[in-house]
Amino acid sequence: MSPAKYSVFLCFSLLCIILFKSRPVLAQTKPVFACDVTNNPGLKNFSFCDTSLDVKARVDDLVSKLTLSEKIGWLVNAAKGVSRLGIPNYEWWSEALHGVSYTGPGTKFNGAVPGATSFPQVILTAASFNESLFETIGKVVSTEARAMYNVGSAGLTFWSPNVNIFRDPRWGRGQETPGEDPLLASKYGAAYVRGLQERDGDKEGLKVAACCKHYTAYDVDNWKGIQRYNFNALVTQQDLDDTFQPPFKSCVVDGNVASVMCSYNQVNGKPTCGDPDLLAGVIRGEWKLNGYIVTDCDSLNEMFYTQKYTKTPEETAALSLNSGLDLNCGSFLGTNTQTAVNRGLVNETVIDRAVSNNFATMMRLGFFDGDPSKQLYGNLGPKDVCTSQNQELAREAARQGIVLLKNAQGSLPLSPTAIKSLAVIGPNANVSHTMLGNYEGSPCKYTTPLQGLTASVATVYQPGCADTSCATAQVDAAKTIAAAADAVVLVMGSDQSIERESLDRVAITLPGQQQLLVSEVAKVSKGPVILVIMSGGGMDVQFAKDDPKISSIMWVGFPGEAGGAAIADVIFGYYNPSGRLPMTWYPESYVEKVNMTDMNMRPDPSTGYPGRSYRFYKGPTVFSFGDGLSYSKFNHQLIKAPKLVFVPLEEGHVCLSSACRSIDVVEHSCKNLAFDIHLSIKNTGKISGSHTIFLFSSPPQVHNSPQKHLLGFQKLHLAPQGEGVVRFNVDVCKHLSLVDEKGNRKVALGEHLLHVGSLTHLLNLRV
Ligand SMILES: *[C@@H]1O[C@H](CO)[C@@H](O)[C@H](O)[C@H]1NC(C)=O
Ligand SMILES: *[C@@H]1O[C@H](CO)[C@@H](O)[C@H](O)[C@H]1NC(C)=O
Ligand SMILES: *[C@@H]1O[C@H](CO)[C@@H](O)[C@H](O)[C@H]1NC(C)=O
Ligand SMILES: *[C@@H]1O[C@H](CO)[C@@H](O)[C@H](O)[C@H]1NC(C)=O
Ligand SMILES: *[C@@H]1O[C@H](CO)[C@@H](O)[C@H](O)[C@H]1NC(C)=O
Repeated sequence: MSPAKYSVFLCFSLLCIILFKSRPVLAQTKPVFACDVTNNPGLKNFSFCDTSLDVKARVDDLVSKLTLSEKIGWLVNAAKGVSRLGIPNYEWWSEALHGVSYTGPGTKFNGAVPGATSFPQVILTAASFNESLFETIGKVVSTEARAMYNVGSAGLTFWSPNVNIFRDPRWGRGQETPGEDPLLASKYGAAYVRGLQERDGDKEGLKVAACCKHYTAYDVDNWKGIQRYNFNALVTQQDLDDTFQPPFKSCVVDGNVASVMCSYNQVNGKPTCGDPDLLAGVIRGEWKLNGYIVTDCDSLNEMFYTQKYTKTPEETAALSLNSGLDLNCGSFLGTNTQTAVNRGLVNETVIDRAVSNNFATMMRLGFFDGDPSKQLYGNLGPKDVCTSQNQELAREAARQGIVLLKNAQGSLPLSPTAIKSLAVIGPNANVSHTMLGNYEGSPCKYTTPLQGLTASVATVYQPGCADTSCATAQVDAAKTIAAAADAVVLVMGSDQSIERESLDRVAITLPGQQQLLVSEVAKVSKGPVILVIMSGGGMDVQFAKDDPKISSIMWVGFPGEAGGAAIADVIFGYYNPSGRLPMTWYPESYVEKVNMTDMNMRPDPSTGYPGRSYRFYKGPTVFSFGDGLSYSKFNHQLIKAPKLVFVPLEEGHVCLSSACRSIDVVEHSCKNLAFDIHLSIKNTGKISGSHTIFLFSSPPQVHNSPQKHLLGFQKLHLAPQGEGVVRFNVDVCKHLSLVDEKGNRKVALGEHLLHVGSLTHLLNLRV
């Protein structure tokens, strides 16, 4: 199709969309809020409406005015208004995983705001390893969210991000997460939360409230009939403390997140939403959450009806509240709390605590400050959603995340002038909605891969398969166009019919006959063959890695609304790829051997269990954590790093007289013990580009420690022949410590091997 015809076609279909969408919708256009003193001056008399008081005083005043039944109305997501106090109904459930989403009843796309910027699915954004990007996306999403709230289209409480560790490639929700590494997941969680929540010049206030989920050790949805609703995750204390918990801790401690959501599953026989140690003990007690703990929807039903964890529903209600739960997504607490109180299973003081946490969050959001149009962010509206700047950021995020995994003889980038005809093949080559991944909203617009590529060169297109399942590949039609073209781009992979919430994969090869299609097309192609994999989880594409006719492999995650443009930017060299894999790509043999339900991170030599993630797994991979190529070359040089670090110990410490292998992190000697590592990085290539520097450490092998783990990462943009310095400040207790079998943090004494790329440096830790 010629560009002119193409734009006519586009306008035509846009018009269709506009006509379709402009049917009358009964849209609410005003935000919900409490303390409307303009229309109800009597409310001025209530202290809880007095913005000059602090949050605690206002919350105490409000709770003191409520009856028990009114309080119970605020224990559930569809909270019941209290009209005598000027409090409207409020819907707590909105989502904004990678853009404001239509998941959940709190948000609606309608006439006022038909679409919001749809960023890449999180796993691809994580691949950028760019912390400032994580935060910037969060800021833009919260601006659009607040704009939608102002016209009555969204709430103020968003149950995002998902910071569960992507432990197994089969997990259908791995796409929603920042990957398998606890440090990356921690940094992503804290940065995205800050972007969503931080309110200019107000430490206590919230722009919108984020929620880190699903706490904890939740990463089995539905595998071979094993369901998340009653799965009992058997987790060692060591894995819990050094793998599953760190992202949640970072959300609370570093990101100051306003909420944590407990999961469906049990951990070691206890449902997470009814475990006082996990909720009141850890989240509230150790980490000091300033906000509310909410259930997944509807965990309490599952706890009672599916898990049959208590004898009566009121016992489940009481157990969860007594464990530290504040809000129930669902209606379980609405139905069963009054009876639980009547039977003496839970005290009203506990309900006061729960609703106080919920109200405090709403106060921090300004919900009790009267008319939002007179407050900070009150001027945001539809004009601030889908701005060209925001849409450009969606494209930029996809570019930054896309990972180049193979590039034989520099076949990429393709020259847009030398390529006269490009064959574009595959079930994902012309997809739009697939690019969004799950927990999506209505996007501003789409650029499909085919559209993106067609903007630079003439293309011919064949889907090659009816859908991603690809039961029967249409090989001949694809071969015909491939044989006649100067280059071939195959856009393969998965979509939500293959991997999604409530659907884990069983196999991790390309679905159906996709592999056959790719190999057959490659055989007849005369120029470069570029395999683009659109997926959430890793795929066993060893065949393509080994096939000399397949010159390049790219992984593009689910790249968001502008994905097709970003793919073309990388293929034609308008953007130099810099993404790195945030998870290990295992061979199919791995999933044939390993039960998805085996939660152990660490290998077990006695059973042959190989362990999980780059930190523990030593077997073959298709691609590894951190893999990713650039069109440039980067050299690393170590400028500064100590060889020996002494850990001072108090006189009489047992380790001074005996040969200790590790010391406890709590010891004073360990505090404030830090050193610098400086590296010089040079771009020796001809193209400017960004480069991620990973600092890994292989600690002494005591306490079942990981073979290596990430201490830090930094990303640097360098012009051709440009040089830059990166500095890592390594805190011995924070970065070099490890968790022992009992969950205690220790610093192992002896040789820690630090590595950056192929550079290694031995660091000796002694007392
Ligand atoms: C509010 O307080 C004022 C002065 O204390 C009083 O005159 C007025 O009646 C009160 N209004 C309501 C609705 O309680
Ligand atoms: C309720 O509070 C009373 C008084 O503090 C206490 O004795 C009782 O154990 C509490 N009940 C529950 C179910 O926690
Ligand atoms: C690409 O997909 C759109 C629908 O999303 C369809 O209308 C269009 O015809 C497709 N393009 C080609 C070349 O088949
Ligand atoms: C996998 O799990 C099944 C059922 O839970 C069990 O019977 C089987 O022994 C497990 N296999 C391995 C290799 O652990
Ligand atoms: C990180 O992302 C920001 C925001 O898009 C961008 O300005 C910056 O250049 C990126 N950093 C690198 C090193 O690519």
